[in-house]
Order: sequence, then C-alpha cells, then structure tokens
Amino acid sequence: AMKPLTDTLGRPLRDFRISVTDRCNFRCTYCMPAEIFGPDYHFLDKSELLSFEEIVRLVKVFRKTAGIEKVRITGGEPLMRKDLDKLIAMISDVAGIDDLAMTTNGSLLPLHAQRLKDAGLKRVTVSLDTLDEERFQRINGRGVSVKKVLQGMEAAEKAGLGVKVNMVVQKGLNDGDILEMARFFKGSGRILRFIEFMDVGNSNGWKMDQVFTKQQIFDTINFETPIEPIEPRYKGEVATRYRYSGSNEEIGIISSITDSFCSYCNRARLSAEGKLYTCLFASKGHDLRSLLRKSEDNEEITKAIEGIWRSRTDRYSDERSSSKSASREKIEMSHIGG
Ligand code: GTP
Ligand code: 5AD
Ligand code: SF4
Ligand code: SF4
Repeated sequence: AMKPLTDTLGRPLRDFRISVTDRCNFRCTYCMPAEIFGPDYHFLDKSELLSFEEIVRLVKVFRKTAGIEKVRITGGEPLMRKDLDKLIAMISDVAGIDDLAMTTNGSLLPLHAQRLKDAGLKRVTVSLDTLDEERFQRINGRGVSVKKVLQGMEAAEKAGLGVKVNMVVQKGLNDGDILEMARFFKGSGRILRFIEFMDVGNSNGWKMDQVFTKQQIFDTINFETPIEPIEPRYKGEVATRYRYSGSNEEIGIISSITDSFCSYCNRARLSAEGKLYTCLFASKGHDLRSLLRKSEDNEEITKAIEGIWRSRTDRYSDERSSSKSASREKIEMSHIGG
C-alpha cells in the first residue's frame, strides 16, 4: 500500500476540487457582487486557463501521489466552461476516481444534465438560498427565477444524477426561509444542507452579526419537527448530518463559523489558472501551471505537491477569532468554488 501523504497536522489529502472557470452567469451578493464584478472586472483569459489535458494530467498525478478518490468540479459556474462534458469523460476514465461531483447554480442543467451523466458525472450540488421569487432574484443579482433552478434539479434527477442542495443562510435576509426550504425538500430525495454565511473573499462585507448559527438553524427546524444527529458518511465530511427522528430523511448543517472542522480538513483546491490552494481562506496559491508547461515529465510536479501538502498548516476557521487571521487578503470564492 501507498504511504499516505499527510500534512503537519496529520491530515491526508483526499478530496480534490477543481475550478474550471472564474466566470458565472449569476452575481450573488455574497460571492460576486455586481458592483465589483461589473463590466470592467478582469476575468481570466482563455490562454490562462488550464486545458482539459492539463487538468487530467494533474488528476492523475494527485491520484498517484496522494491516492485521491474524489473529485469535485466547481467554478464560478462550471457550466460556463465550453464542452465541460468532455472534461468529465476524461476524468471519469482515470482509474480509481470513484466519486465525481459538481457544484453548480443549476440554471444551465436543463441543457447539460444528460450529457454530463453520460460522460460519467455521479452527482450535483445545486445552490438555492430561498424559494421566494423576489428574494432569490435579488440575491442572484441577475433576476434568475427559482423555477429555473428547480427545473435544473429536475433535469439532473431525470438524467440519473444524485442531487444535494446548498442554502447559504444570512441572518435578516433569508433565515426566515429555512422552514419553507426544509418542508419543500423533505421527502424529495434531495439532501438539503444549510451553510453558515462565511467570510470568504474580500468583497462580501461579511460581519459576524450576519451569521445565523448552526444552533439557531437546528432550533428552527427542531422546534417544528424533531431532528437528531447521525454519524458522518465519511471522515472529514464538512456537513453535520441530522435526520428527522424516526425517519431516514436527512438534512445537513455546515458550520465553518461557530463549529469549525479544520482538524479533519482533507481538501485541496485548484483554481482555473492552475494554482493550488490548501485552504478556502488562503491568501496565496501555488503555481502548478508553470510546472505543467515546463516539462512533460511529472517528477517536478509530484515533488512540488508532496512538499506543499507535507508543510501545510492551514486551520483558518479554528483560528478565525484570533487577530492573526483578521483582515488579510483572501482568495475569492469565485476562483476556487467553495
Ligand atoms: P459531499 O461530497 O456531498 O460531502 O459534498 P461537500 O460536503 O463537500 O459539499 P460542498 O462541496 O457542496 O460543500 C458545501 C459548502 O461547504 C461549500 O460550498 C463551502 O461553502 C463549504 N465548505 C466546503 N468545504 C469547506 C472547507 O474545507 N472549509 C470551509 N470553511 N468551508 C467549506
Ligand atoms: N458563505 C457561505 N457559503 C458561500 N457560498 C458562496 N459564498 C459563500 C459564503 N460567503 C456557497 C454557494 C455555493 C457554494 C459554492 O458555496 O452558495 O453553494
Ligand atoms: Fe455564481 Fe455560485 Fe458565486 Fe452565485 S455563489 S455568484 S452562482 S459562483
Ligand atoms: Fe480546511 Fe481551511 Fe476550511 Fe479549515 S478553513 S476546514 S483548513 S479549508
């Protein structure tokens, strides 16, 4: 067996998350606010993006060096990348990648779900923060309707993809929608996860008093229908799982702010231009693209990845309240996809 690649805190690298574009057809207020991501915003040029061949080369290297079994495709909005199903097919051909998932805003799934499934995608996680039309259109910044996103989920299911739903909860904005969302998705076969609003990036103006906490989310649901915690599906799962008592109906809560989970964090993130980030809140990535383009040989890249992971110390969420982590530059969510 392979000697596991672990960091300074003994954490293995298991989960490889690949951003394929920094563009998105939404302008969510907490991720790509339209005032900042406007007509003058400089997105990556096509020549800066890793090619599909380069991405797959990295997947193979990560598989061989770290034994990754799981790949998640992210963005921006990954379906903004042309011919994404070709990349999915190429990754799903790599031996040993058992789980292949994608995080998406859902709006383009009606056009692409079947092709993605045929290419080997297993499941999608669709973001949806409310069922209220007016509020949703305000949040996504582009007037996209709830109906459109629900149609995306339906298309995914029809194609045979598993579906999870991510709801980012912001106090005073959509915490009043938690119960309606919970009722709507209960019994639908789509697992709903509530995410505490996080201080990712530099542009969403995050404040602690905008966080609706894990405990508050729990209380809101539990008051109406009792829920109880259940075991994680795998070590390092970020969502705490709950089931409605006496049933197999499941929900999840992702609590980066009030109940951090850094001690099990086994995730590496690749930006669309080929930088490797070892934390969602990192200031700097490690340039793998120049190594890819320098030589056909994988030895130098392998060494670089091993060195980066072995020396990894990240635990931003554990340290968040200390002055050490306050107010430094951070990578934007739209560059590494969450
Ligand atoms: P599964 O593979 O289905 O378990 O998905 P997942 O739990 O990895 O879900 P997903 O990738 O959709 O993560 C949900 C959200 O949780 C992300 O979009 C982020 O907002 C947040 N999140 C995921 N990973 C991390 C992490 O390592 N640290 C922090 N702070 N937040 C994370
Ligand atoms: N806090 C919590 N979740 C966020 N997401 C984007 N920005 C934030 C934030 N500031 C979520 C999206 C999507 C996933 C990629 O991360 O809604 O579900
Ligand atoms: Fe786009 Fe997702 Fe960011 Fe919204 S949260 S702007 S859908 S990448
Ligand atoms: Fe991992 Fe960084 Fe999130 Fe902690 S804050 S769980 S180290 S990505």
